[in-house]
Amino acid sequence: MTSGLTRRTLLRGVLAGAAVGSAAACDDGSAPRLGVTPEPTPVTLPTGTLTFPPGFGWGAATSAYQVEGAVRADGRGVSIWDTFSHTPGRTRNGDTGDVAADHYHRYAQDVALMRELGLTSYRFSIAWPRILPHGTGTPNQKGLDFYRRLVDALRAAGIAPMVTLFHWDLPQALQDKGGWENRDCAEWFAEYASVCFRALNDVVPVWLTINEPKTIVDVGYTYGVHAPGKRDPRAAWTALHHLLLAHGMAVKAYRDSGGAGRIGPALNLAPAYPADGTHEAAAAARYADGMENRRFLDPILRGDYPSDVVTAEAAMRKSIRDGDLGIISTPIDLLAVQYYNPVYVSGGGEHVTLKPTSDASWQQIYPEGLYDVLVRVKRDYGDIPIVITENGRPRADELVGGKVNDPERIAFLRDHLAAAHLAIQAGVRLESYHLWSLLDNYEWAEGYGQRWGIVYVDYPTQRRIPKASAEWYKGVIATNTISR
Ligand code: GCO
Repeated sequence: MTSGLTRRTLLRGVLAGAAVGSAAACDDGSAPRLGVTPEPTPVTLPTGTLTFPPGFGWGAATSAYQVEGAVRADGRGVSIWDTFSHTPGRTRNGDTGDVAADHYHRYAQDVALMRELGLTSYRFSIAWPRILPHGTGTPNQKGLDFYRRLVDALRAAGIAPMVTLFHWDLPQALQDKGGWENRDCAEWFAEYASVCFRALNDVVPVWLTINEPKTIVDVGYTYGVHAPGKRDPRAAWTALHHLLLAHGMAVKAYRDSGGAGRIGPALNLAPAYPADGTHEAAAAARYADGMENRRFLDPILRGDYPSDVVTAEAAMRKSIRDGDLGIISTPIDLLAVQYYNPVYVSGGGEHVTLKPTSDASWQQIYPEGLYDVLVRVKRDYGDIPIVITENGRPRADELVGGKVNDPERIAFLRDHLAAAHLAIQAGVRLESYHLWSLLDNYEWAEGYGQRWGIVYVDYPTQRRIPKASAEWYKGVIATNTISR
């Protein structure tokens, strides 16, 4: 059983503590940087029938450890999530990803389901331990063969594969050598990425490097609620730098591989708003914006770390070597944005809840925040092509008469798509939307206690039952419109 605190609940603590210091430190009277808005005058989400641009991509997302199962099949090595989930007390009910949704064996039926829904894109991740069971060295051909089968099935169904290289399942053998605290991990990642490029460049048009470096360092290294289960803020800053370095090295490796597709990072971005009209809250929100967004966007898109957030972190400074920021900011082709929730910050740096939440207590529901995130990226970082690769909400879905009625999820998806549509009207180069998630799956430390899918998974039988939201999404895709 976990401590009962969700990972994002824990985040409020770390940010609150840090923000108090920083709010005072940067309380220099200077105007808040662009991107941090006072409690916004919410945009008005459009109503009526909203038609998306011709060719807009409609997808869904999963990740290897959350759906594949088959953790011992075909030479797969051990990941840190195998170790972590099998450590007593780390996950709800001791749940593990040993079986999950058995996607490894059932991928063909899942692709058929995607085709039935009309998906044009499927975002999934490759499990590093399937490709390099010990993290480096000789590739495991059976692991590569699985992903080739999956991609071939997707392409035969007219569904474009979008592949995440790292969605948290680091080979345990590399963790034993220091994992992301070891600068060599960036090189190990680039080697692994090159193996994937060589094997699949001919059939994968879009690659995502690192999924949510923020969640990795905050939840895995600061509060220890995710693998590797560390509670060491200094290690978190060191890991952050090495994760960003790994991203840059993988982008360079992709260019060297001759890949004709596109590559970029997958960042979960959260707009940071002052919880009240005080100057202290504005300063604290600016710091929170740095922690939530700018300490990732600035190094990747500008080649520098935001000084109001990072210079204070001596651990980070010790990790940075000449040339690193040049590698980290190797030009990318697109930005994958993942949006779940805003943050509201008091003058004392506390995160406060001002909006209704989903079944995940950390998830304040504010679709207008997606609009704010998207237009802010355009305004502050330029016209980079954007794909939304995660957006969704959990719900205590129940099978009643063989059906799952999930109106709250439909309303969530519809309103966030309206915000996305508004951002497109504002000139944001938004190309596609991938909801989280296709299937109910293993929600990390929450185990199977939260259902995020538009397709219900009856775990004892592994039956897939499309929910009402799946039928709704099928209609959205068929008409390329939403109505609200
Ligand atoms: C993340 C991960 C997903 C989660 C999803 C719901 O954002 O943490 O990318 O693996 O399952 O976001 O929390």
